[in-house]
Amino acid sequence: MSMNIDASKKDKVALVTGATSGIGRSTALLLASEGATVVVAARREEKGRQVVEEIRALGGEAAFLKMDVANEESVRDGIRWIVGRYGKLDLAVNNAGISKRPAPLIETDTKDLQDALQTNVVGLFASMKHEAAAMLKTGGGAIVNVSSINGLRPTDRSSAYSASKFAVEALTKVAAKEMAGHNIRINAIAPGPTKSEITEGLGEELLAGFAQLIPAKRMAESEEIAKAIAYLLSDDAAFAVGSTWVMDGGLIL
Ligand SMILES: NC(=O)c1ccc[n+]([C@@H]2O[C@H](COP(=O)([O-])OP(=O)(O)OC[C@H]3O[C@@H](n4cnc5c(N)ncnc54)[C@H](OP(=O)(O)O)[C@@H]3O)[C@@H](O)[C@H]2O)c1
Repeated sequence: MSMNIDASKKDKVALVTGATSGIGRSTALLLASEGATVVVAARREEKGRQVVEEIRALGGEAAFLKMDVANEESVRDGIRWIVGRYGKLDLAVNNAGISKRPAPLIETDTKDLQDALQTNVVGLFASMKHEAAAMLKTGGGAIVNVSSINGLRPTDRSSAYSASKFAVEALTKVAAKEMAGHNIRINAIAPGPTKSEITEGLGEELLAGFAQLIPAKRMAESEEIAKAIAYLLSDDAAFAVGSTWVMDGGLIL
């Protein structure tokens, strides 16, 4: 990866939650390559420090922040730490999320729904709330929430995950409407099947099946999703407010 300074990211401080792997890691690397100082947030410290080292080796600026989005205190303290260290927060990507193996409703544990809601919804809610509060103090910013095509149309065998992602869509649109007048732009990206740790866990057979259902006949690379996130965070997307960018190779058409 070569350094590619996008004027709208230079001197910006960016938080990426769930940046230890998959879409979050690719986004952290890309934003750093565009000149942002990137806070790599997640629970796994060793993996997080590896991402920070990768960014630094490429000439970028980054720091690891141990954060569990399912715990609001951890989110609040983490964002306080960012503002204390850098004086501001300009950009945030609420990407941290979990997904269990697809299962029919009657075989889904209620605990799976509670876990999905705690991380994907309560965690994203707490993240957006504390990020927006920090951004308000320094004049604005931009936030991208990582939703899913499962948050846009009903997907069978996905009740817990879909419920959480439909909620992400609602939270994104309400917050975007509230914050647009305060110079804080909030949008979402809805990826289709994308290569990452979440999908690796599903096994090759299931993944090959997914790929066949996609008009583009392949899954997305996490770097492709990262590029769309970076665009939504940039000043070029200044009029995008409360939108969801579907990036799924045509799957939901
Ligand atoms: N891959 C796909 O096909 C696909 C499609 C649509 C949407 N998405 C969404 O994309 C996002 C990223 O997923 P991915 O596919 O890149 O999967 P991934 O490789 O498993 O990444 C998930 C990330 O979330 C972090 N995370 C999970 N729980 C967390 C918590 N409580 N606090 C902080 N970080 C947490 C993980 O880090 P730690 O374990 O280190 O905390 C990891 O970095 C998710 O929101 C997912 O729902 C993925």
